[in-house]
Amino acid sequence: MSSAEQSVHFRDGSLHIEGVALEDIARRFGTPCYVYSRAALTSAYASWREALAGRRASICYAVKANSNLAILDVFARLGSGFDIVSGGELARVLVAGGQASRTVFSGVGKSTAEMRAALEAGVHCFNVESAAELERLNSVAGAHGKRAPIALRVNPDVDPKTHPYISTGLRKNKFGIAFEDAIALYAHARALANLEIRGIACHIGSQLLDPAPIAEATAKVLGLADRLAADGIELTHLDLGGGLGIRYRDEAPPPVAGYLAPVLAQLEGRREEIRFEPGRSLVGNAGLLLTRIEYLKHGAEKNFAVVDAAMNDLTRPALYDAFHEIQPVAPRPVATCRYDVVGPVCESGDFLGHDRELAVEAGDLLAILSAGAYGMTMSSNYNTRPRAAEILVDGSQARQIRRRETVEELFALETTLP
Ligand code: LLP
Repeated sequence: MSSAEQSVHFRDGSLHIEGVALEDIARRFGTPCYVYSRAALTSAYASWREALAGRRASICYAVKANSNLAILDVFARLGSGFDIVSGGELARVLVAGGQASRTVFSGVGKSTAEMRAALEAGVHCFNVESAAELERLNSVAGAHGKRAPIALRVNPDVDPKTHPYISTGLRKNKFGIAFEDAIALYAHARALANLEIRGIACHIGSQLLDPAPIAEATAKVLGLADRLAADGIELTHLDLGGGLGIRYRDEAPPPVAGYLAPVLAQLEGRREEIRFEPGRSLVGNAGLLLTRIEYLKHGAEKNFAVVDAAMNDLTRPALYDAFHEIQPVAPRPVATCRYDVVGPVCESGDFLGHDRELAVEAGDLLAILSAGAYGMTMSSNYNTRPRAAEILVDGSQARQIRRRETVEELFALETTLP
């Protein structure tokens, strides 16, 4: 059992996260709320650090997975770098105490303003995804009297065998630069006065459960680095992206060390520093969504547990048909019944789980597990629903790290007509 799983456990018949009862959290902060375990975040980071011990390697936490300032603060204190995809994420990293010099800027659509902000801040590297972006970055850097550090994000055309919406390294995907175009584009980048070539980057997809695709991508990236070296372009780092999956149901992802083993074996004796951009594997199993059952509704074909969280809070089930385990916080000694766990939003796609055997009554609390990654960050205000509060548990302490929105805040930026 991983430490993330141990951090959520039953004590005296009631679900706890570290030393705090989820019932107490619901009483203090209301529902729905996201609840994270600091110990689980720390131990997930330690697994990455240990797997990379003795290597010149850096971990750049992918901010998009969970960008709460307190979560970024936890990782910054552990010495993590960051992978960002917007000016907004850059601002968060800086406010949370992260270092720009340990931050890489990914993404296919960087705006001029975002490039400027990242140059000002002094990010370690721009992971450039197209020829047009390269030209723009060169001119923005020139206008600022700076040289922009770059890596080209190449698309190694490897099938990561994951959900099609989260595959990114196939030729048909919008990401990265086609492998066969990379050499010419590096040569072009070398000729541009305001760019400094530092590395090469790739990211082939997310929720990967098998090391083979990343090992295959690594082999291709190394081959490219060698061809570039032969042309006199020496890279200082190789960025192999994120992607390691977690257990939601019965998946068996390899431990970090096992996932990295076939990658690290290929890197023996090489000079380049290596870098990874893990997101989900650092935060996914460190968080849950706590919700209360409003109503039980028994129908002819289906029974519904209508809860106070919805697809606007956790969109993964609606968007990817993703499975999240659902656990009653205080199981009752009564017969189970099969429920669809659904929210109040007016869409048939608004479900958190289908066909779950639960022994519950209206008013009971449910924990939607493995919700620390791509939960709160993908939430919305659909149906004018204030977003959930976020709570960080550390031992016996629970701290609110984002308060619940108020309805007035949701339309504070709007006006009625004069
Ligand atoms: N680096 C880059 C360039 C990325 O695009 C991503 C994720 C990561 C790193 C982090 O990948 P991770 O270690 O978390 O797999 N919303 C989807 C996942 C989208 C992933 C997007 N890119 C979900 O909820 O499953």
